Amino acid sequence: MIMANLTVIGGSASQTLAKNLANKLDANYIKASVRIFPDGESKVTIGNKPAGKTIVVQSTHPPVDSNFIQTLSLISKARETSSQVIAVMPYLCYMRQDKEFLPGEVITSAVIAKMLRAVGASKIVIVDIHSKSAIKYFDMPVRNVSAVPKLAMFFKKMKLKNPFVIAADLFWAPQARQFAKILGTESSALNKQRNRKTGNLEIKKSQKMNLVGRDVILVDDMISTGGSIVKAAEYLKKQNCRNIYVACTHALLVGDAEKKIKNAGVLRIISTNTIPGKTNAIDVSDILAESL
Ligand code: R5P
Repeated sequence: MIMANLTVIGGSASQTLAKNLANKLDANYIKASVRIFPDGESKVTIGNKPAGKTIVVQSTHPPVDSNFIQTLSLISKARETSSQVIAVMPYLCYMRQDKEFLPGEVITSAVIAKMLRAVGASKIVIVDIHSKSAIKYFDMPVRNVSAVPKLAMFFKKMKLKNPFVIAADLFWAPQARQFAKILGTESSALNKQRNRKTGNLEIKKSQKMNLVGRDVILVDDMISTGGSIVKAAEYLKKQNCRNIYVACTHALLVGDAEKKIKNAGVLRIISTNTIPGKTNAIDVSDILAESL
């Protein structure tokens, strides 16, 4: 069947979010199916042919490379019959690799941008891209949607005890300020440093904060192995804060990350549904719909 006007294609990694988005946009919905061959290759199929404007929705959490190649395949297939293809990639992988940190490193963010362009995407929509500096590699419009206001509103309703918002690193200090403003409270940021050779993390002496008896909301764009949050929670516990909560946009929670974070003293992790999982408490389909 040919589907005209506006169509949303839901990749296998983001079906629920894609369906929610299609409903919000009153668009046709095509569910992509995928078969993984024994060698790891993906066979992607769509039942109907999209026409007009098509939106391909897929986050690229683990298995990262498989989800990414599936997204490329969907965009390429949609481009055969659509007038325009927009890639909605709520969590876009490889955006941490936006610089040659050590000599010889590949800037994979730029490679990702080239591939998305090559298969026919004309615009990309991302939620809280890890590094805004990666946007320069995209030879097409990029819309970076912020989930911070929705995360903050969720915490506002929790009525925590004299909360204090802390960014897990200096890069997220502006987002922590925005979050704190919505809660009507203060914020700060930890000075997290990663050794580029060993990957080891250290929290350097950060700005003075009096956290005694206060609930802390630790904010970050993403949690992968949980190493950053564990270090941060250990640091904050020493300041005699009350409960520690974590708010993040993308909860990859690789392996036993959630257990490690809880063991480090975090009471609750709240994430958006850019990546499906147990910690999801915020649906981003409405902010994605607005951005389209
Ligand atoms: C790094 O700058 C990011 O904002 C995250 O803090 C980091 O990628 C999380 O990774 P992990 O959970 O493995 O520490």
